[in-house]
Amino acid sequence: MWMNEDIKIVQGEAVDVMGQMADASVDLIIADPPYNLGKDYGNNHDQMGFDAYLSFTRAWLGQAHRILREDGTLYVFMGVRFVSYLYDILDRELEMHFNSWICWHYTQGLGRKKGFSPRHDDILMFTKSSRFQFHLDAVRVPQKYYRARNNMRGANPGDVWQFSHVHYCNTNRQPHPTQKPEGLMARMVLASSQKGNLVVDPFVGSGTSARVCQQLGRRCIGIEMNPSFVAACHERLSAPFAGFDSIDERMRRIPNDLNDAAVRDKYLKNHSRWFLAHHNDALAQFENDVTDKYGDSVDSVDSGNFGNFSDVKK
Ligand SMILES: C[S@@+](CC[C@H](N)C(=O)[O-])C[C@H]1O[C@@H](n2cnc3c(N)ncnc32)[C@H](O)[C@@H]1O
Repeated sequence: MWMNEDIKIVQGEAVDVMGQMADASVDLIIADPPYNLGKDYGNNHDQMGFDAYLSFTRAWLGQAHRILREDGTLYVFMGVRFVSYLYDILDRELEMHFNSWICWHYTQGLGRKKGFSPRHDDILMFTKSSRFQFHLDAVRVPQKYYRARNNMRGANPGDVWQFSHVHYCNTNRQPHPTQKPEGLMARMVLASSQKGNLVVDPFVGSGTSARVCQQLGRRCIGIEMNPSFVAACHERLSAPFAGFDSIDERMRRIPNDLNDAAVRDKYLKNHSRWFLAHHNDALAQFENDVTDKYGDSVDSVDSGNFGNFSDVKK
């Protein structure tokens, strides 16, 4: 087991480890189980019979439901083969409350010659009751246009989330076959928990959710049965942090028609704080894009701040 005060990675089997946790003790569960597609996870094989996979799914979901607080939220990643069965278990067997069916559009992948190339995974979001936390302001995306009637704090990101896979050339790429993007996980953590809350990931893999929780000030217990992935989590959690490894491209979007100098100046500073928090590496490009779009006019109305975002980067 690797642990510090707030982040624990437990080596073990998800049903067994969750079985030792107290009832109604967890605020948020993010689960990215094996999809039963034959992936090689080293010491465990992602290929069960159809009924065996459903029994396994029922077993871990039963524990997840038991340990979730009454106001808690559950997100489950799933491939297309089993997502309808998963929905049925959550909805009819566990009687959880449906909230969102999120489509993770990952933009690139294997091509098919007969049929459409797969480009998405599904993520089901259910809550344990009708009383749950949801922090919309923490996950808004920039508006396309400045309009007085628009909420310039940003728009709801919707239920189609575009994040590319963490490619092999990404400096944060881990030795794991199905590593998920940190930006994607961060959206769930930010929307459905607050600082100090406890998040459980029963299939933590390379530790994406644990890394995100570490950076966002949540407590986390990640469970993983392969000891070499546990070791990889340990290294990842000890590495310096330079920003999440993935971003929803809309976060870089600078609204058109920010023609009023005072509004523009305020908005641009807030943009760095709101949308590019935890993406320090995106700030330089943002400054360039702002200069391209508004450079001349901003210079003429603001003598000091434009081009200097240092006071709003933190
Ligand atoms: C889809 S991957 C998770 C990837 C992770 N979200 C990430 O970003 O790296 C599923 C993981 O669950 C682990 N696993 C499979 N069956 C398990 C079980 N019964 N209990 C705990 N871990 C399990 C596998 O070793 C694998 O690392």
